[in-house]
Amino acid sequence: MNILVASAEMAPLAKTGGLADVVQALPTEWKKQGHNPIVVIPKYSSIDTNKYGFEPTNIVICVPISHWMEYARLWKGKIPGSDVPCYLVENQDYFNRNGIYGDPNEFFDNDRRFIFFSRAVLETAKSLNFKPDILHAHDFHTAFSIAFLKTHYRNDDFFRNCAGVFTIHNLAYQGWFKPQRAMDFACFGTQNFKGSWFEKNNSVNAMKTAIMFADKITTVSPTYSREIRWDYYGEGLQEPLNKRSADLIGVLNGADYTAWNPATDKYIFNKYDAKSLAKKQDNKYAFLAEKGLHKEDNLDLPLVCVISRLAEQKGIDILMYKLEHYLFYGNFRFALVGTGDQRYIEYFNYLSWKYPGKILSHIGYSNPLAHQTICASDFILLPSRYEPCGLTQMYALKYGTIPIVRSTGGLADTIREYVPGSDLGNGFLFINYNHEDMDFAIRRALHIYYDKHHWDKVRQNAMQSDFSVADAAKKYIEVFRWAKEKI
Ligand code: ADP
Ligand code: GLC
Repeated sequence: MNILVASAEMAPLAKTGGLADVVQALPTEWKKQGHNPIVVIPKYSSIDTNKYGFEPTNIVICVPISHWMEYARLWKGKIPGSDVPCYLVENQDYFNRNGIYGDPNEFFDNDRRFIFFSRAVLETAKSLNFKPDILHAHDFHTAFSIAFLKTHYRNDDFFRNCAGVFTIHNLAYQGWFKPQRAMDFACFGTQNFKGSWFEKNNSVNAMKTAIMFADKITTVSPTYSREIRWDYYGEGLQEPLNKRSADLIGVLNGADYTAWNPATDKYIFNKYDAKSLAKKQDNKYAFLAEKGLHKEDNLDLPLVCVISRLAEQKGIDILMYKLEHYLFYGNFRFALVGTGDQRYIEYFNYLSWKYPGKILSHIGYSNPLAHQTICASDFILLPSRYEPCGLTQMYALKYGTIPIVRSTGGLADTIREYVPGSDLGNGFLFINYNHEDMDFAIRRALHIYYDKHHWDKVRQNAMQSDFSVADAAKKYIEVFRWAKEKI
């Protein structure tokens, strides 16, 4: 199958979260399974083209915007570590600035940037003579590519066999645009705007647009695909999602175990696998020593980590009710690797100042440190208010680092409560979004930590949990076949 992947992020070139990991991993796997994907992303100025071996081509594409044409040069390379062609769309006005979506606030012209890019994706395919069977667009940034496929390019013979599949990674970011601008840039006009598939509360809503136009809609876990049809999780789009429910399906993300594997991880101190789990402890001690957390006498105090965007979604608010209490009473040491909202940053800065030696707070983005911290920790905490899938809990499992999570979205689909009687389960869960329930799950987890038999068992169970991207990739191909039946 020829698969045209449109995304605003792809690891390791441009990443703010899990979207980038998935867009790197899925096409890599499709290629191994005999398919023919290409990926198109914007050429942000932050991308190190030399490091990743990307070069400019002499292809310049023409992109209709409003009643004029705009231009972009294509750069060509491969998804690092694979044979999958990847194209970067270069336009100085839109992408030659600091930041992917903003710096730090959202760019005022994100409507225009991503409408331009969404159309550029289709023009890229044409200029390469790459006739797609599937256009696979991810999140609101590329949502308009699906609308374009079904409107301006509907009668274009080039796309005759192409179905449009839209994947929702996070429903909270929808792309709310002013109709006068967005409809004009997208060459639709505002005449029939009210009540159209583009409209939500008198604004353009890019996410809704793709939900309505796509042949099939996927989300990144089965539980999230059900949750978003209800008010609490639907972020106001539950109605269009319910309308399209016959074409909506959850496909659980997979973890890239070539990058996240304690037996081969180049960032960690001492490699190990399920048979040499004792070596995990060396990583913890080395980490504690390096980060200045060893001053406390009890080296075996549990180490709990959070590796996360610091956003409301991630449940930092309920953690803030309890974390100081745990540090004060010495229930565990804590490590944070994250960045995001200022109020959370200030909170973690305050804790680091007040509890030196008990907390490591790394504010910023660091992939090596994310690996080292997951590896060194005993537990990873994800008290998310909602979590479409979540990748860090899958990565952590492979390292024998036990997830304590709220039972929502992909967390509910990947973590099972460890029950001492049956010795089954790979983590600890709580259902209601409040700090008392979170606290109870943490206390159950800490209790198991001090019981050698159960602690070994839950870690073995965790390391045997398998959420490989190969399975996810196969399921997407089934969805793509299903989408093609529609056209
Ligand atoms: P989301 O996409 O909502 O941020 P995921 O769990 O799907 O959540 O993906 C997060 C990805 O980003 C993981 O690969 C995780 O390791 C990485 N990550 C998050 N915060 C940081 C950080 N501060 N430094 C390095 N990697 C991070
Ligand atoms: C989003 C979600 C996260 C998911 C990721 C990749 O950013 O917040 O839960 O794992 O996309 O699909």
